[in-house]
Amino acid sequence: MLPKEVRLVEVGPRDGLQNEARTVPLAVKVELIERLADAGMPVVESGSFVSPKWVPQMADTAEVLARVRRRPGVAYPVLVPNMQGFAAAAAAGVGEIAIFAAASESFARRNTNCSIDESFQRFAPVAAAATAAGMRVRGYVSCAVACPYEGPIAPAAVADVSARLMALGCYEVSLGDTIGVGTPGVVQAMLDAVAARVPRARMAVHFHDTWGQALANILASLERGIAVVDASVAGLGGCPYAKGATGNVASEDVLYLLDGLGIATGVDLERLAAAGDWISGFLERPTGSKVARALAGRRH
Ligand code: HMG
Ligand code: MG
Repeated sequence: MLPKEVRLVEVGPRDGLQNEARTVPLAVKVELIERLADAGMPVVESGSFVSPKWVPQMADTAEVLARVRRRPGVAYPVLVPNMQGFAAAAAAGVGEIAIFAAASESFARRNTNCSIDESFQRFAPVAAAATAAGMRVRGYVSCAVACPYEGPIAPAAVADVSARLMALGCYEVSLGDTIGVGTPGVVQAMLDAVAARVPRARMAVHFHDTWGQALANILASLERGIAVVDASVAGLGGCPYAKGATGNVASEDVLYLLDGLGIATGVDLERLAAAGDWISGFLERPTGSKVARALAGRRH
């Protein structure tokens, strides 16, 4: 049975913009976040406190957070890799952070310059400090299906990393198909393996759409009782440390699917598509959302 409600987690301002080569001005980041929250997104991931040498686009996250008009009830989480990032997040007054692990040793090394075990040694004090400060902590597992360097990843490895994140106090783990290669059967097998260690209500899915399978994988995830879905407006994004990976599944396309299934999200499709068209216009590229393109065609 499909869930009656789904919580959408908008990751475009972080997962989307982090991959842009050209610096996106502060005011554009702020307006994008505000438009997404105004469209009804309950969660808008708003940046990351990582090394600016690694991801220069996210260097102004503190300023972004200082300027964003906060809508009551909306969460504005940020990624944090270590205690240095935690200190910056705490200083910025964030209410929620996300720590990000990988199920692949090679990807952990490329993305965070350490092994999986070392990444957990960094996360442990971050999760403890965040919890003590009353912040919520979300966990990510990259390469939950496959790794750009190692190929297919064993579901048991994904389950293990997920369980370790939950043991640190994460309220939820987001399972990322970082390079968007998964297909529904493979995804369901992975979800079932994770569900043996983590309650399904604590699992979220995060699909990049490189191979065009993301919507099929989301439907397959809903069928497995998953009710939290990450998506990126206009399909922005990729990962700087996953060569060839394209954007996340477009939020507009996910919303159209959910609306069609009668699954409540609280998000308004027209306003969401307007936000996606606006940022695509700024970036001078066509939207990555088929639904946004269809809506625009209907207006002409
Ligand atoms: P490192 O070089 O090993 O770190 O990087 P370090 O501790 O040796 O420090 C080196 C320098 O970085 C120092 O500066 C530190 O101050 C600075 P220097 O002395 O050379 O001037 N530094 C920092 N500066 C600001 N904030 C910090 C911070 N930490 C160190 N928090 C590190 C290790 C983890 C920092 C680095 O590898 C890094 O920042 N990686 C982030 C990579 C990233 O953001 N990737 C994208 C997000 S993950 C993703 O997209 C996947 C996801 O969407 C799910 C999916 O799709 O799979 C979540
Ligand atoms: Mg991602």
